[in-house]
Amino acid sequence: MGCLLFLLLWGLPQIRGSSEGLQRHFPLRCLQISSFANSSWSRTDGLAWLGELQAYTWRSDSDTIRFLKPWSQGRFSDQQWENLQHIFLVYRISFTRDIQEFVTMLHVDYPFDIQMSGGCEVLPGNTSKSFLDIAFQGTAIVSFQGTFWVPNPDSPPWVQTACKVANQDQGTRETVRWLLDSVCPSLVRGLLETGKSELEKPVQPEAWLSSGPTPGPGRLLLVCHVSGFYPNPVWAMWMRGEQEQPGTRRGDVLPQADGTWYLRVTLDVAAREAAGLSCRVRHSSLGDQDIVLYWGRGQASPGLIAGLVVAFLLILSCVGLAFCCQRRRRYQGIM
Ligand SMILES: *[C@@H]1O[C@H](CO)[C@@H](O)[C@H](O)[C@H]1NC(C)=O
Ligand SMILES: *[C@@H]1O[C@H](CO)[C@@H](O)[C@H](O)[C@H]1NC(C)=O
Repeated sequence: MGCLLFLLLWGLPQIRGSSEGLQRHFPLRCLQISSFANSSWSRTDGLAWLGELQAYTWRSDSDTIRFLKPWSQGRFSDQQWENLQHIFLVYRISFTRDIQEFVTMLHVDYPFDIQMSGGCEVLPGNTSKSFLDIAFQGTAIVSFQGTFWVPNPDSPPWVQTACKVANQDQGTRETVRWLLDSVCPSLVRGLLETGKSELEKPVQPEAWLSSGPTPGPGRLLLVCHVSGFYPNPVWAMWMRGEQEQPGTRRGDVLPQADGTWYLRVTLDVAAREAAGLSCRVRHSSLGDQDIVLYWGRGQASPGLIAGLVVAFLLILSCVGLAFCCQRRRRYQGIM
């Protein structure tokens, strides 16, 4: 059976381009997500990233791997892509069929999800390393090592059986190895050239402050937003002078639709201690020019907003009054 063979097309090359002078690693990471609802319904979607940038998507209802970047084809010819796409189509069909056979054979219950993560990275010295891992219902169960499917030590007995069966299919194992160790690195080498300028170009963050939901009486939640930066590594901290505030809580760095990142760091303080605090942001795009934002200067506090609203209403009523008077005068003129 053509089991899990082709899983990884999606490879994950990553590079550290020695000759190119690239300082960071850019693995190619491919993710396959397969949902099996019952014995007759399933879908398989794919996504792939080079470093932090998503370069491909492959929808279950499509025969084509979609390029998300102008440089996604790398140095592969149209013919090479055609061939690769064909391999993946065959893979998707045989994967679905094999899984359904396994389920019948091993008495696994529907519904379930299978995720696969695979890819490679080109290392300094022009070597490469690759990986392929499979998860069932969100838990890692199998990895591909050397040329064999290896069950994770704590996976259930049916996984061991499935691996034994899959390992009998030498053709598939050789194809997976070829995709991981040959196709993937050569795709990545090309992508590192075609995508170089976007991969290497840092994008500066914007930062602003706001107050979050009040944590309790007499307290403030100071929120520092850092948005729109690339690459992902960023440092942000609440400070008093040069003193880092240990109560600073850092959120997850979240992806945004345009490929940049967003982070928020918060600090829960007594309201009377908020003055003089600042949020400091460091990022490779900023060189040594950190962004420093002081609490109480610039961001809209509730008091400030109330003041603005009052001022706005005052202005409105003055304008209204002036307008009425003028109208009355005009009517008086007519009459
Ligand atoms: C299988 O699952 C799909 C999607 O949830 C559903 O629409 C379909 O009716 C199910 N078929 C059977 C035979 O249960
Ligand atoms: C790196 O290795 C690949 C495959 O072994 C080869 O085709 C390529 O020419 C090498 N590149 C450099 C810069 O040595």
